[in-house]
Amino acid sequence: MQERNDPKAYYSFDDENNEVKIHRYDTPTPWMNYFSNGTFHTMMSQAGGAVAFYKSPQIWRLNRYRFYHLPTDRSGMYFYIRDKQTKDYWSPTAEPVLNKPEKWQAAHGMGYSRFEAEKQGITSNLRYFVGPHENNLIWNLELKNNTDKPKTLDLFAYVEFGMMEFMREVSWVCYMKHQMSVYYLKDEKALIFKYGVETQPKPDETPLVYLASDHPLKGFDGDRDEFIGTYRSESNPYVVENEDCTNSSLFGGDPCGALQMEVTLQPGESKTINVFLGTGQHEKEIQASLQNIRKPGFVSQSFGALKVHWHHYLNKFRCEIPDQAAQRMINTWNPYQAQRNFLFSRNISYYATGTFRGVGFRDTAQDILSQTPFDIDSSKDKMRMLLQQQYADGHTNHYFFPYEGWEPVHRKHSDNHLWPILGVWNIIVEENSISFLDEEIAYYDEGSATVYDHLKQAVKFAMDNRGANGLPLMLHSDWNDQMFKVCREGKGESFWTAMLLGLTLPKLIELATLHNKKEDIAWYENIYNTQKKLVNTIGWDGEWYRRAIMDNGLYLGTKDNPEAKIWLNAQSWAVLSGFASRERGMQAMDIVKEKLDSKLGIKLIDPSITTFPDPKDPLTNYNKGTGENASVFCHANTWAIMAECMLGRGDQAWKYYQQIIPANAMNSAGAWRYKAEPYVYASNLFGPESDKFGLAYVSWLTGTAAWMYHVATQYILGVRPTWEGLLIDPCLPSEWENVTVQRIFRKKLFNISINKKQGVCKGVNQLILNGKTLENNIIPDHLTEDENSVLVYM
Ligand code: GLC
Repeated sequence: MQERNDPKAYYSFDDENNEVKIHRYDTPTPWMNYFSNGTFHTMMSQAGGAVAFYKSPQIWRLNRYRFYHLPTDRSGMYFYIRDKQTKDYWSPTAEPVLNKPEKWQAAHGMGYSRFEAEKQGITSNLRYFVGPHENNLIWNLELKNNTDKPKTLDLFAYVEFGMMEFMREVSWVCYMKHQMSVYYLKDEKALIFKYGVETQPKPDETPLVYLASDHPLKGFDGDRDEFIGTYRSESNPYVVENEDCTNSSLFGGDPCGALQMEVTLQPGESKTINVFLGTGQHEKEIQASLQNIRKPGFVSQSFGALKVHWHHYLNKFRCEIPDQAAQRMINTWNPYQAQRNFLFSRNISYYATGTFRGVGFRDTAQDILSQTPFDIDSSKDKMRMLLQQQYADGHTNHYFFPYEGWEPVHRKHSDNHLWPILGVWNIIVEENSISFLDEEIAYYDEGSATVYDHLKQAVKFAMDNRGANGLPLMLHSDWNDQMFKVCREGKGESFWTAMLLGLTLPKLIELATLHNKKEDIAWYENIYNTQKKLVNTIGWDGEWYRRAIMDNGLYLGTKDNPEAKIWLNAQSWAVLSGFASRERGMQAMDIVKEKLDSKLGIKLIDPSITTFPDPKDPLTNYNKGTGENASVFCHANTWAIMAECMLGRGDQAWKYYQQIIPANAMNSAGAWRYKAEPYVYASNLFGPESDKFGLAYVSWLTGTAAWMYHVATQYILGVRPTWEGLLIDPCLPSEWENVTVQRIFRKKLFNISINKKQGVCKGVNQLILNGKTLENNIIPDHLTEDENSVLVYM
């Protein structure tokens, strides 16, 4: 047990190469990575378990991946290496064969994963990645013979195809199997998988799948039963254990792709074999792809281009700080994770099955915050896509399906429509242009409006949907999904949504000013002031801020209640919105520290709910300490960090920040308790009221990624875009002295060196730009050059 709990036994970071090295294949959960060229994607674990998809995992997933069935993390992209003489076989990914390599290590990097293995004198270096040029997953395997005898190896590459639509597969597999085929294209030496189900939502856009190699083939199989046999699994395929591929095609049944190759290696010799799993709309397109990918140098050029892409990407913001775990997150893993969230929303991960989520409106609107520093164009594209989901009355769809052609999920929530204000504001100030505000974008139902008017309409919807007390109605829920019982009769109201208005309205006022919409400003100001007053009167219970008012008029999140007395978001957002006076803000955040903080992060509420408000109908059925019911909800922890930075309490902000850094949390909880990846944030950790306190849940795809990045770079390091220029306003731990930040802003480079005395957390005394002292801590564009040196004294 001791060893199972020791993080060092599982992994280590290699910061120079932006990799995490994984020393054991049997990590406590699958530790995932994602590869993507924007169109073709693969999620792969440290043990080779994987699922690949073209555009959408709902309707175009290439292979089966079983999310919760045992054995876990199957199937994947597997090689089998078989010694022709001894018939011993193993997999360079360690899984799925029981007979493991003698030496083994995996590494996840930026857009690729690698596996180094050694068995019986044969070493393998295997790399999987999706390159920028073709829609395929490249399996790049180098084999070397380290013995003093020639070796002949049979090499099998195997992937289990399936129905491209996971949900249809579960329901209709018995008939739809007739519409699966796998056949061999002799001239191209490639297996083609055709998913021919005509009731698929987009049959005309459904690609063919190919599996091919650049090495001569000895055989193939397209029929899973022929390759695996019965009462066997990927661990011991019949063919690999007994004979050669049977050259099976499949016209109805369970499809697979298996290729057999023979590799002879002289002593000391090494050879490289590439396998390609990809898509093309028709055979001609696949022929052209195959010609391209089989050209000498294609694979190494593709990998080189991938490395260059991530090098440039990550160079847009870099820092040097006195904390290695945090520095690594800020420079590498956090922006990497945030980019994957931007791409995939909350669609498919080890936890999310990629079957129903599509693009979540509020989730993606928040993801944009972390993307604007890196890629304005795609941030705008995403924002356009979101605003097209807004109705003329201002509300929005809750999630939608840009590729699948399905109807969106249409539910009115009290927050969705307001989030784009933050994203648009970030786009505008990053770019220093207001032209985006004038772009005309269609509403989902009827008519169209400019981007600015879409935002204004969102506020109008909030105002048109207020409750008896004048606060925004909770509707189906606000940010907290478990609020759906608050407003079942259509009366419940949300203090938090009032605070979201508080955070967003000043941004909208700024946009209105820049955009010459002065006539709107008084209206926005009036709303701001009215909501502020409500929050500070009926929203204040004397000790902290309340969270909501339920249908029956009872308050949620107040000291007189037996359960769910105090809610984190009501305190942090009172500060973020500017509604709380400094004194009240400090009081509210002190209560957070006292009642909600733990060594593994801040709980969302306290105490958890079991019987409130009615034992027969509690607010949530979630077990205590899980999810929104008093877990450490990392996403919401980020707002507490931001609130503490706004209050200038750098030590407290830093405590909250560093304790949920995955590697730190895993160190304090133990690896076998924390379980999820130590390099990417999770949505939440089971809370102190659970007997599994510290168990990380729903890692990778979570709003934690965007917001941790946003608060770390813009509030802790304090390098924050404003319309007037780059603002430098750090809020750092008192014991730190020197910090450097490199940031590309408006196409110019800023080398920022922050110097402070111990004991100081916040407050810039002097800012020297290229040798000249500025009047304040905003660097205006007209004083900047292509490269800038910024000296900051706090
Ligand atoms: C999940 C959802 C997100 C929601 C949050 C809190 O992270 O993806 O939309 O806001 O839970 O309930």
